[in-house]
Amino acid sequence: MKTYSLHPESIRNLFDNVAPTYDFLNHLLSLGRDFYWRRRAVQELNGLGGRILDMATGTGDVAIEIIRQDGYRKKVFGLDFSQPMIQRARQKVLEKHLSQTITLSLGDALSLPFRDNTFDASLMAFGLRNIVKKEQALSEMVRVLKNDGRVIILEFTFPRKGWMRRLYPIYFQRVLPRVGGFISGDRGAYSYLPESVFHFPSAENYERILKNVGLAQVRSQSLTGGVASIISGIKRSR
Ligand SMILES: C[S@@+](CC[C@H](N)C(=O)[O-])C[C@H]1O[C@@H](n2cnc3c(N)ncnc32)[C@H](O)[C@@H]1O
Repeated sequence: MKTYSLHPESIRNLFDNVAPTYDFLNHLLSLGRDFYWRRRAVQELNGLGGRILDMATGTGDVAIEIIRQDGYRKKVFGLDFSQPMIQRARQKVLEKHLSQTITLSLGDALSLPFRDNTFDASLMAFGLRNIVKKEQALSEMVRVLKNDGRVIILEFTFPRKGWMRRLYPIYFQRVLPRVGGFISGDRGAYSYLPESVFHFPSAENYERILKNVGLAQVRSQSLTGGVASIISGIKRSR
């Protein structure tokens, strides 16, 4: 079994390897909730128009959801460092005839190929926990954002109470690695996922990092009993 660690090369390898089955497994293993989580995160844009950055776009589902919700006022830029993931995104964008509104590029979240004050909002769904230098990635998101622009993070979090808290470890440690490993052929990749969530568990942690990079009005909301959370903040001029 391949083993993966929280190191950029290792993370890139992981996503290169799981890219062909990523979408199918996402929908299966989240029992279809991932559609709802992304929809809710994109709703946080609150009708904001202009240019939107989708960091760690993967196979492009957030970028596509942005256009689906209110496309005619937006231009979306998706960026990811895994060639096979972005290739899948490109196929989907072409199939949906969205090439005019969604631009996809290969790049590193730690050093964005965009000028300061370019975007009206930047989102990142299920990407931050895979990045070691979280503050650097968030600082880059803030740098390329215009004043009053919004940062929106969607991430897995560890449920704090209720039956989800009891069910979560069983599902994540026993069911998910087996099913994910069987279908993707990469058991290591789907063993890494629960570890990454257990090591970085709470929405409060994410809130603290967003505040550390200077964002204002930082808040979070939990989804599906706390399995996932949306954490957001606003860039204010200093
Ligand atoms: C779990 S996937 C999420 C993809 C997509 N946002 C979604 O909602 O399905 C995480 C993505 O983050 C990307 N990623 C991780 N670290 C990155 C980095 N430093 N720069 C760019 N992309 C990165 C991976 O290649 C992968 O496609």
